[in-house]
Amino acid sequence: MMLDAVLARIDDTLPESLERLMALLRIPSISTDPAYAEACQSAADWLVADLASFGIAAEKRATPGHPMVVGHVSGEGPHLLFYGHYDVQPVDPLELWDRDPFDPALEETPAGKVIRGRGASDDKGQLMTFVEACRAWAAKHGSLPCRITFLFEGEEESGSPSLVPFLEENAEELRADLALICDTGLFESRAPAIITMLRGLLGEEIVIRGPDKDLHSGMYGGPSINPIRVLTRALAGLHDDEGRVTVPGFYDGVPELSPELAAQWDALNFDAAGFLGGVGLSEPAGEAGRSALEMIWSRPTCEINGIVGGYTGEGFKTVLPAEARAKVSFRLVGTQDPAAIREAFRAQIRAALPADCTVEFHDHGASQASHMATDHPAFEAARGALAEEWQTPAAFAGCGGSIPIAGHFKKLLGMDSMLIGFGKDDDQIHSPNEKYDLESFHKGIRSWARILDAVSK
Ligand code: BES
Ligand code: MN
Ligand code: MN
Repeated sequence: MMLDAVLARIDDTLPESLERLMALLRIPSISTDPAYAEACQSAADWLVADLASFGIAAEKRATPGHPMVVGHVSGEGPHLLFYGHYDVQPVDPLELWDRDPFDPALEETPAGKVIRGRGASDDKGQLMTFVEACRAWAAKHGSLPCRITFLFEGEEESGSPSLVPFLEENAEELRADLALICDTGLFESRAPAIITMLRGLLGEEIVIRGPDKDLHSGMYGGPSINPIRVLTRALAGLHDDEGRVTVPGFYDGVPELSPELAAQWDALNFDAAGFLGGVGLSEPAGEAGRSALEMIWSRPTCEINGIVGGYTGEGFKTVLPAEARAKVSFRLVGTQDPAAIREAFRAQIRAALPADCTVEFHDHGASQASHMATDHPAFEAARGALAEEWQTPAAFAGCGGSIPIAGHFKKLLGMDSMLIGFGKDDDQIHSPNEKYDLESFHKGIRSWARILDAVSK
């Protein structure tokens, strides 16, 4: 059977696949920091050359930001589009890394071999699982099993500013029967999962100002308003005692879990204690009366991601600060409307301002939640292929994270997405010491070969 030959080739050439991933990981393609713009170009060039190395015509496409990589292979059967992102998150705090984030290495750990480095899991390692599967397929068959379009983005980690115009301008070229996205994780770090719902995301930054300069808290403390007090009180008011978000209208468009989905999720037997225990916690701290799985997959949240103001250096300073800042994000579900929530949030913060305080808001982008239609026959085919590879059933799962492109594919191109990824909860994506298990990489490549085989039949 030809699939067996492809799988054997994947096993035999794993060291070379790993070397290629290491080369990509050495390129510091941090999209949010302009200092790394050249590196983003290099990563795109590297991918174009890598696709060309097994016969795929691809090119780097300029955008106002970092470039896209687009490649095409013709073929019979379904037209698939594969999406991944080559950009990565900043590495700070650098001192918490055990090695140079862009000098990746294969490390032995008690839990097995891991590929350590920024982007190993999010998303270079995952992106390369698909590329390596295609390479092995081409080596054995001389061509790919069906028509495939490759789309690699370089701005996913910085809010994808160029994505919507690019999809609009190239809609005809990019529209396929189905998009494949490899940027998510395994269920409980062990079982293959097809993600059927993603949360949306809304980012806001608040700056509250009071006195026109920093003051001595002995001379002015009492009569002067303190912007940190104003900010923390406003932030504390964003949740009630039941853990619900207080922004008016926030729950408009938040659906209750259908009994079918609730039963399906119950059957997954999610180990909430193990999930929380893995990061030193024991109690779900979200909305009262909701399971931990609901809290992550199907309930919206408001999180304070950062807060600064006053004196935070060594020692002590009796300062009464002139300003205080916070970054706040909301994870969205169902049909929650980011624009309406942004307005209601701003109105709530403005209403909390006493005399002599001003507030300034910065918009850090927004995307709606998305739900995947799972009726395309590829879903059942992929489920079977994944179960074969992982020797355990593939779950239809939710995902607490956000991948805005899935919604854009649907809205702008009318294209459904099938999200399959092999990340683990302890991959430390976005954090120091990011890793990708060698097993995820290897079985990920094998999974895509099996999926391509099953889907193109
Ligand atoms: N790959 C992640 C999304 C993800 C996170 C999937 C956790 C599975 C588990 C993606 O690269 C990401 O980090 N998305 C950001 C949003 C983006 C607009 C910066 C996120 O979810 O915070
Ligand atoms: Mn990602
Ligand atoms: Mn990410």
